[in-house]
Amino acid sequence: MPRNIIDVTDLTVEEIGELIDTAEDIIANPAKYQDACAHKQLATLFFEPSTRTRLSFESAMLALGGSVLGFSEAASSSTAKGETVGDTVHTVSCYADVIAMRHPKEGAPYAAAQFSEVPIINAGDGGHNHPTQTLTDLLTIHREKGRLDGFTIGFCGDLKFGRTVHSLVNALSRYENIKFVLISPAELKLPRYVKEEALKKRGIPYRQTDSLDAVIPDLDILYMTRVQKERFFNEEDYLRLKDSYILTPEKLENAKQDLSILHPLPRVNEISVAVDKDPRAAYWKQVKNGKFIRMALILKLLDIRV
Ligand code: NCD
Repeated sequence: MPRNIIDVTDLTVEEIGELIDTAEDIIANPAKYQDACAHKQLATLFFEPSTRTRLSFESAMLALGGSVLGFSEAASSSTAKGETVGDTVHTVSCYADVIAMRHPKEGAPYAAAQFSEVPIINAGDGGHNHPTQTLTDLLTIHREKGRLDGFTIGFCGDLKFGRTVHSLVNALSRYENIKFVLISPAELKLPRYVKEEALKKRGIPYRQTDSLDAVIPDLDILYMTRVQKERFFNEEDYLRLKDSYILTPEKLENAKQDLSILHPLPRVNEISVAVDKDPRAAYWKQVKNGKFIRMALILKLLDIRV
């Protein structure tokens, strides 16, 4: 059975530390890695839209000297003819050495992995999980703060459907002394199962609030998210909730000087463009980090040591 990354806890805390170390070495010495994956192939199977995740996976494999194949929408694959995800993945696993897969159905990458002869990486499954965004977030926090423990992090926006939030809360709950502040409208609170499994089971305290203004002075990290339009059941609810939080330079006046602002992107309007110039904005650095940590993950799954 190949090694799959379906959930962020498929990696131990030690392994995540090693991936961060490898990513740092890649950033410092890119030439050392440029042929590491020569003659290896990565397939990207994206049944749902993506810019950063798919292109960072592809860019990562190309920077390792490997090649890429795949599709960026279900309509251009045999899914359109009625093929099951299992058969599609079984087919691709005959051609590629590792597969990154995004799907609108929660659990689809897990189900597909049962049919694959090569490692499957979950590149986002519905409103559930997004482990490689979490690796990106952890590398970014490590680079910005120099550590992965002992800080207060606020998650703001759509905590219900935001899969990057679910995976990052789960991942951070394994580090010491992290305080979680969950900022959302009542309708978009963090799902109970995430609270139970990641926070309550481990006895980790958390605060829930609908006011970003009330908590912003306490935060070391602010993780903003977009309201996930595509997961709403009716447009009326989306329209009512979409502008719940908009981060502006004025709102940041009460924040710490060493705050780090993260966002998995894409942004709609929840961070005003004027914030991009603030030295505390780390989300464009986060985009770059996504490539380096995926390079480290591909090397690990292919068992290639440089
Ligand atoms: C996120 C996703 O797809 O879940 N984007 C990403 O991968 N960087 C966040 C989002 O779509 O809001």
